[in-house]
Amino acid sequence: SKGNHRHYMLKEIYEQPVVVAQTLKSYLQRMEDRVSLPIPDFDLGTIRRVTIVACGTSYYAGMVAKYWIEQFARVPVDIDVASEFRYRAPVMEDGGLMIVISQSGETADTLAALRYARAEGQKIAAVVNVPTSTMAREADLLLPTHAGPEIGVASTKAFTCQLAVLAAFAANLARAKGRLDAKAEKELVRHLSEAPAALNGALAYDESIEDMAHLVAGARDVLYLGRGPDYPLALEGALKLKEISYIHAEGYAAGEMKHGPIALIDDKVPVIVLAPSGPLFEKTVSNMQEVQARGGKVILISDYDGVQAAGEGCIATITMPKVHPLIAPMIYAVPVQLLAYHVAVAKGTDVDQPRNLAKSVTVE
Ligand code: M6R
Repeated sequence: SKGNHRHYMLKEIYEQPVVVAQTLKSYLQRMEDRVSLPIPDFDLGTIRRVTIVACGTSYYAGMVAKYWIEQFARVPVDIDVASEFRYRAPVMEDGGLMIVISQSGETADTLAALRYARAEGQKIAAVVNVPTSTMAREADLLLPTHAGPEIGVASTKAFTCQLAVLAAFAANLARAKGRLDAKAEKELVRHLSEAPAALNGALAYDESIEDMAHLVAGARDVLYLGRGPDYPLALEGALKLKEISYIHAEGYAAGEMKHGPIALIDDKVPVIVLAPSGPLFEKTVSNMQEVQARGGKVILISDYDGVQAAGEGCIATITMPKVHPLIAPMIYAVPVQLLAYHVAVAKGTDVDQPRNLAKSVTVE
């Protein structure tokens, strides 16, 4: 049931602190400050290359994971959307692990990609939310998310739980590769353990986001910008808005603006900038200022320090809890979900059952 929430989507957005905690619990041994996979005897040490394949929101979780795996484990990662991967005769070398990511575990293209990789001699890991699904059954290594049933067509809690699992996976792989000493592992576990509380902190901004929905609801086009592991969040924000509010939206790597999309900027295109404090903050802000210099109307999503430093001249700001850059993609999912939700409600669309979409895409 929706409980006292108006839509399943809102209920599922609000469940995130609990389900992410639940998911992390099965991957973190807090007391020992260790990250552990549920199947510890799977030998990650021999993996030479990772290939991630998924669709839609699950694909964006995979994009974030590429940053983590390459940064922590120094293992090269290829990533593709399943519908492209399966038809391009990808080269798969020995010692490769494919990770499929899927809420349903039944998406036709992702399943076909899994079977292609299997035939090419790859090991298969599956990050799925439905433990009885076809992908769960066919994988060598099952990495479940514990989000519980997701009813809303727009994926929300499955995404943040996928990120939690993928962060734990990246840490495990890093350890297996001898790239994570005990001290670094302890730090990582600490940051990950802070995610549920930070998700709660992010949800506290719900009403303010509702109040700014009108800034977006009347727009024809909306841009989302981010860098590094927050670039996939820009793509995810744009997808969420498209799906449920039917407003045209695009996500861009902030540094790509000057290579074309900045031509779109005028005072009618709201630009949502995701810029948590961290090594990429200044770079993203300078892209944001280029947008503002051309009359662009910016909504900045950052933490208190970021909003203090760069919020001036924005039409609105959204203040997130200050978190380690590692978990920022998880936390910044919340404001982009809530913004899409409130814009859709303002427009009166069918939030849980948007037109033309199915929850599980089992035909290609
Ligand atoms: O069940 P899956 O995770 O494999 O589904 C993948 C996509 O169909 C899904 O994420 C879709 O993009 C959602 N509607 C996004 O909100």
